[in-house]
Amino acid sequence: MKFIASFIFLLFINFTVFAQAIEGNSETTTDLESYANSEIAIIPAPANLTKLAGHFVLPNNITIQVGKSPELKQTIAFLQERLSIPTGYHVNVINPPVANPTIKLIINDTEDASIGTEGYHLSVGVRQVVIRANKPAGLFYGVQSLIQLLPKEIESKEEVKGIKWVMPCVEVTDYPRLGWRGLMFDVARHFFTKQEVKQYIDAMVRYKYNILHLHLADDEGWRIEIKGLPKLTEVGAWNVKRIGTFGDFIPPTADEPRNYGGFYTQEDIKELVEYAKARFVNIMPEIDVPGHSLAAIASYPELSCTPEAINYKVRSGEKIMDWSRGAPPLGLVDNTLCPANEKVYVFLDTVFSQIAKLFPFEYIHVGGDEVARNFWEKNDQIKELMKREGLKTIPEVQAYFERRVETIIQSKGKKFMAWDEVLEGGVSPTAAVMSWRNMQHGIDAAKAGHEVVMSPTQFAYIDYMQADAITEPRVYASLRLSKSYEFDPVPAGVDPKFIKGGQANLWTEQVYNIRQAEYMTWPRGFAIAESVWSPKEKKNWTNFFARTEEHFKRLDIAETKYAPSVYDPIFTVRRSADRNLLITLTTEVEGLDIYYSFDNSFPDRFYPKYTTPLVPPVDAKVLKVITYRGKNPIGRMMNMPIEELEKRAGKR
Ligand code: ACM
Repeated sequence: MKFIASFIFLLFINFTVFAQAIEGNSETTTDLESYANSEIAIIPAPANLTKLAGHFVLPNNITIQVGKSPELKQTIAFLQERLSIPTGYHVNVINPPVANPTIKLIINDTEDASIGTEGYHLSVGVRQVVIRANKPAGLFYGVQSLIQLLPKEIESKEEVKGIKWVMPCVEVTDYPRLGWRGLMFDVARHFFTKQEVKQYIDAMVRYKYNILHLHLADDEGWRIEIKGLPKLTEVGAWNVKRIGTFGDFIPPTADEPRNYGGFYTQEDIKELVEYAKARFVNIMPEIDVPGHSLAAIASYPELSCTPEAINYKVRSGEKIMDWSRGAPPLGLVDNTLCPANEKVYVFLDTVFSQIAKLFPFEYIHVGGDEVARNFWEKNDQIKELMKREGLKTIPEVQAYFERRVETIIQSKGKKFMAWDEVLEGGVSPTAAVMSWRNMQHGIDAAKAGHEVVMSPTQFAYIDYMQADAITEPRVYASLRLSKSYEFDPVPAGVDPKFIKGGQANLWTEQVYNIRQAEYMTWPRGFAIAESVWSPKEKKNWTNFFARTEEHFKRLDIAETKYAPSVYDPIFTVRRSADRNLLITLTTEVEGLDIYYSFDNSFPDRFYPKYTTPLVPPVDAKVLKVITYRGKNPIGRMMNMPIEELEKRAGKR
């Protein structure tokens, strides 16, 4: 009986598909049609997408026809895995042309100039899906978009029964706005295993990122094996495990075990580079010098100008900088390599020779940020260097160092990239600049003819808190999703040819594990992806957020963590004329209701709904709030102490 019912159902589906094929523009409203008619939610938004009438149903015996290209191996494997695991269907990959393959992946014989090297054309018809591109990368991105057209369960790691594997018919012509679409992952502050880095790559490529910038060395760890410099990984890769709020930890005692951390062997690096390459991602290594170098100095104290360096240890999150006077910071220890010491350049030559061989990417990032100047200002070796080289200021000392480092990098056949501070003492015109402190440094650099990657704190620092510090792990600044979405890496008035692209940076001082790395990256990673891929005029916050919500469901199924912070209300405080506290609550997204309590109980939708600014009752200690969409709670329960709000509002 069941068999007969299924048979009739299948017949019905086939008939519907057939009918669609014949009728083309038919508006039939079958179940399948309405399923396929749900909003298309591709992130980043494609350059051109036309939705056609009709839908495509995955047959339970799928054939993928591909030309022979070793570079397509991973694209095919990904497609095969996604189409077979959740559906339980059979997926056949075939090389010679067959009569009616389900999906065709075609590299154009004649180049289509409109889509460049990473673009693709995706055509979903009622009977067949065809993706065409000039290069394998384009097919990979076409496949990512194709997966996003299928029901969210396609992200599942196991078979999901009872799903209609259907998608709307579309024509998509898509290509990136910018060639550099980066994510920086700081594996120095906390170490992330090779497997975790692969997991991070798997997530980023779904959103068409193509550069993984690995921050491989900092005060807290040196993470890459360098042959001939064994202490970098014997000493430099390990510190004392501490948990809590990084930055103010009690300094470790001498007898605490230094066994927290890790590093990548050169074989690990080769494996990661290959893994990334198969997914059309370049890995850019960063060795942050001359500042942020305590792990190297703890390994080889002779790299420092400061004799006390002999006692230095890899940082475990204790305070080593004083930022109270702003930037540049005051070093409480000297975490800088000594620019006046020839051994430093020999060391860097060894390091960068090996790094250049391990990473095929054309750029090596050498840091250059946040160099504490106070030790250099007092140091005799530096004073001598200044006299000898005619350097008038400490930024010029850094510039001298950077020029020497650039010569080393170039001698290995690579291009030099550094954080924007290197502009201060006058950097060479061939240096590429990663602008992080704001957009303006990037603008200045581009105007001076440098290649620039924009990754400014105000839009792209995904280590910052995503909502109120009362709920989020505390970091010194905030960056909400909507602000990230405002990122425009190509500012007006700059010749776009100097802007290579944009990047989001995940520093990991407060990120102790891969789940939290994911939480910090998504959904702001969607916003940055769209800012670097999609045409500027296609960007639209409301539409983007609707798609983001669809991707929340996808990430749930893919078991990738993300932050729901966007649903949490924003607290704004001021004082009324009679000096009372006035609390305004708003939401980042439209259509949410906020319910609240002052009586320590947990509000739900039967509690007072926020409509106008609140004055806390005289003895109230806490304001609890939660957002709802209709009848469903959607934000997290937030417990805001009144005392905290009083503090934020300033003096009574
Ligand atoms: C940086 O955030 N110090 C580049």
